[in-house]
Amino acid sequence: MRRLASVASLAVLAVLALLGGCSEPEFSDAEKKTIASLALNTLPALKADTTNQYADVPAAAALGSTLFFDAGMSRDGTVSCSTCHK
Ligand code: HEC
Repeated sequence: MRRLASVASLAVLAVLALLGGCSEPEFSDAEKKTIASLALNTLPALKADTTNQYADVPAAAALGSTLFFDAGMSRDGTVSCSTCHK
């Protein structure tokens, strides 16, 4: 009986969590403006990286990109960096 009550409580909590998580957030115009001001594309361009001599070498970027998306480097050939980092 006690177990049934626990399961029922969990089911109720799960339903509430689902319903609560589905509503669209409502932001005021001022809040939307603040959120928009935090966008990364509002930042100035990055300064050149003086600590990485390969930072602006296209071939280095191409190699990094290839490795980043290469699932063949993982133990079972199914996981790459991009699996988690989109
Ligand atoms: C299985 C998922 C997964 C894979 C695969 C993965 N990462 Fe991550 N990575 C994470 C998670 C989760 C974090 C955040 C860890 C934390 O903040 O404690 C993270 C953090 C990082 C960070 C630090 C980011 C920061 O803001 O400091 C870097 C850099 C990074 N990963 C690069 C890589 C690279 C390069 C690869 C491939 C060689 C890779 N990751 C593969 C899940 C993964």
